[in-house]
Amino acid sequence: MNFKSMTAVAALMLTLPGVSLADPDDDTLIINGETEIVTKAPLPAHMEDANMDQIMSGWHFRSDETQALEMDDFDNPGMIFVDAGLEQWNTVEGSKGNSCASCHEDPSSMKGVRAVYPKWDEKAGEVQTLAMQINDCREANMGAEPYKYDSGPMVNMEALITLQSRGMPVNVAIDGPAADAWAKGKEMYYTRYGQLELSCANCHEDNYGNMIRADHLSQGQINGFPTYRLKNAKLNTVHGRFKGCIRDTRAHTFNPGSEEFVALELYVASRGNGLSVEGPSVRN
Ligand code: HEC
Ligand code: HEC
Repeated sequence: MNFKSMTAVAALMLTLPGVSLADPDDDTLIINGETEIVTKAPLPAHMEDANMDQIMSGWHFRSDETQALEMDDFDNPGMIFVDAGLEQWNTVEGSKGNSCASCHEDPSSMKGVRAVYPKWDEKAGEVQTLAMQINDCREANMGAEPYKYDSGPMVNMEALITLQSRGMPVNVAIDGPAADAWAKGKEMYYTRYGQLELSCANCHEDNYGNMIRADHLSQGQINGFPTYRLKNAKLNTVHGRFKGCIRDTRAHTFNPGSEEFVALELYVASRGNGLSVEGPSVRN
């Protein structure tokens, strides 16, 4: 470990008691014996100055038991939410008499979609998350009520769509019209929040691999979302996780679906460019 990261560890140990060292493992993730997941990849070019030498899925930081739950869809507790999402997909709702299937037919038509979100939407003139796009379709194409951003039905639908891209490389665009939002997200990532004055980078860049109390710190990647957490026994959204992490620094946080979290999601997604889409994943 170099000097820079030693001082960062020391700083975190002072701020939070119970930090100790532990390396991520070298296991291989193959789902259902057939879908190979890229869980370690070279740093994307935009991260050349980051305090790390490769990017890694959060899967490497979990216990053998938790890892095993993700290796077979029969054991993955997140999969029942995919089934619920499929039912929603085929259900007619709203004033126009449409279901998702009316226009998009089989969910497999969504192959590749998850891998490039969040992305710039020309019509809306903004960067959109998958959740925003789903609600656009509900409102404009179905005449239905939008799902609440962080709700069960939304995360079910995200899980169904995400599954279609499982194994494909995350590849979000950070240039062109998306560049402003990306830069804003990057600034947030390195901003220190709350009474603890900790940035995302302090934990997930300077200290990944270390134990923080009983928890093994990962790089805070989002290629595995939505994520089934054993802790709350449900699928969790990216913005729900961001909110929890900011709250842990004892700061006021942003709302799921806010412009701030959309920008942060784009930036964090881009830190995983090259890892496979893995969701729905399993974490503790
Ligand atoms: C009346 C037809 C129609 C219905 C019903 C509809 N969509 Fe769409 N959807 C479209 C069209 C057209 C596009 C592409 C243009 C756009 O982005 O608006 C699209 C785009 C999308 C995209 C983005 C794909 C990409 O490549 O970026 C997603 C995701 C999506 N729809 C999900 C859904 C979901 C989930 C439902 C049901 C809740 C749904 N749609 C219902 C017509 C529809
Ligand atoms: C005090 C340290 C700390 C800070 C600061 C922090 N996190 Fe976390 N974060 C954790 C811990 C602990 C976990 C659970 C273990 C793990 O996956 O790293 C976690 C988990 C995550 C995960 C889930 C990773 C996965 O594989 O499921 C994401 C995503 C994440 N954090 C993003 C962020 C972002 C973005 C920020 C800044 C807004 C942030 N975190 C700030 C400690 C922190």
